[in-house]
Amino acid sequence: MNLKDLYINFFVSKGHKQIPSAPVVPENDPSVLFNTAGMQPLIPYLMGQSHPYGTRLCDYQKCIRTNDLEEVGDVTHHTFFEMLGNWSLGDYFKDESIEWSFEFLTEHLNIPVERLAVTVFAGNDDIPFDDVSYNKWISLGIKPERIAKTEKDNFWIAGETGPCGADTEIFYFRSDDCIPEKFDPSDDRWVEIWNNVFMQYNKDEKGNISELPKKNVDTGMGVERTTAILEGVNDNYLSSIWKDVIDLISEIANIPYEGNERSMRIIADHIRTAVFIAADPAGIKPSNTDQGYILRRLIRRAIRHAKTLNIDIDSDWDLKIASLLISKYQKYYKELEDNRDVVLNVLQDEKKRFSKTLEKGLREFEKITRNKENISGEVAFHLFDTYGFPLELTVELARERNLEVDVLGFNEKFREHQEKSRTASAGKFKGGLAGNSEIETRYHTATHLLNAALKVVVGPEVHQRGSNITDERMRFDFSCDHKLSDEEKKKTEDLVNEWINADLEVKVEEMPKEEAIKSGAECMFIEKYPDIVTVYSIGNDNYGVISKELCGGPHVKRTSELPKFKIKKEEASSAGVRRIKAVLINE
Ligand code: ALA
Repeated sequence: MNLKDLYINFFVSKGHKQIPSAPVVPENDPSVLFNTAGMQPLIPYLMGQSHPYGTRLCDYQKCIRTNDLEEVGDVTHHTFFEMLGNWSLGDYFKDESIEWSFEFLTEHLNIPVERLAVTVFAGNDDIPFDDVSYNKWISLGIKPERIAKTEKDNFWIAGETGPCGADTEIFYFRSDDCIPEKFDPSDDRWVEIWNNVFMQYNKDEKGNISELPKKNVDTGMGVERTTAILEGVNDNYLSSIWKDVIDLISEIANIPYEGNERSMRIIADHIRTAVFIAADPAGIKPSNTDQGYILRRLIRRAIRHAKTLNIDIDSDWDLKIASLLISKYQKYYKELEDNRDVVLNVLQDEKKRFSKTLEKGLREFEKITRNKENISGEVAFHLFDTYGFPLELTVELARERNLEVDVLGFNEKFREHQEKSRTASAGKFKGGLAGNSEIETRYHTATHLLNAALKVVVGPEVHQRGSNITDERMRFDFSCDHKLSDEEKKKTEDLVNEWINADLEVKVEEMPKEEAIKSGAECMFIEKYPDIVTVYSIGNDNYGVISKELCGGPHVKRTSELPKFKIKKEEASSAGVRRIKAVLINE
């Protein structure tokens, strides 16, 4: 049985409920681009809100950390990883948490006690020494020399503010050397495998620490690292998580892993992360901002490294790797299977876009660097803007030629560029769905009708990506990989008008979120909604239910309250997203 299954089974046997992995893009938390830890989707519950599954939870969570993108290529760094976690929401605390971690590691993963060491919180002016954890470890048979008391590294918080607390970290001796009696956490033969955080505080913006309403436990164990340890390999990419992916890359490139490790690891890592981002329900597509830009950088960097391995970029090498990854993970993440075509299209489209400029960009780069001069921020930005070279690509190419890049200069230019596009997109959503005039209410209902009509005319894979209403017009963004033909536009318009004329009933109900989703109600971002949601359905006996959406409203009571619907414009919004502008007109 693999680590994920062993872990979940163990904690379920200790009274925990398994919760599903949240999407990698946290839509209810705009402060971060991706979930970086298992606890992130649980913050409201750690802060005191009651969780529908109870007070003991466990899961495996998809996480993405891209702050050390540059490090990927060595034996341990990954941009995507899975984190195993178990939580107590005001239920058990330090004793049980430590006891179960110890039991799982020693009895279920069969790790010998002499390979383990721990750190505990040493205490500071605000919070005392964690003697409970210390004594617990001693009682379980961990020797005092194997317990390090530290202050800085034993206080855990996800960022600057939020739920936090002292933690105890568990280390494993990952080396064939003789195990030293005394544990030194800075000796990198000791690697951290599990972190148990005793979350009893909240830190606010001013830095004040206050007690949370309940004492919680939050733990995190990295799947990649622990799997490598259990399998006795010192290079994570040689564990069962990666081995077949690396073998496939090696087969495609027709060269061995040895001697080409760095590029092969980068390709494997970046394609895996790109697959998970592209399959996420948030519908991220490569772009030059936010998550879309991370996706773009990952794909482009993988392409560049494939090129250095002399892989034929235009062949289906990337699709083969992505397909293998999907087949490896789909048992645990159904969205990979459901969105397989979306993922493959994202990879293919981005490759097409990049390969158009890659060759030219590389030639330009050669020209610029012929005189062995360092690269200014302006030139790096030019390579980005004109040839689509993400900064790290330029830095990497420069490094290969012993040249420097003015990263700060680039960042400045890039920030200006991002700000410009942010302002543009803020303007794009001005108005939002907040206005409630009678005419706006009609546009809300028209939005649902249009969404439903597109699913009929274009296909069920169409999903809403954005919406904007004023009392003069509606704008609707939706996922779609092609420009709508005149016929598709006409059919969509006709269908909406047919539904308007059919005088369908608009019904509103409240129900638990899960029930709503199970009944097929459509929503843009499931996590954004409370546990009890409002669902609007449109239909009648004759037509059945033509639309069912989670929505805050307001809506008209019957579709016949709407005048005629007319599409004014259909255009590209961003990669893979189209936009329709439409009006309701009294004729
Ligand atoms: N939230 C803790 C961590 O990420 C468990 O290490």
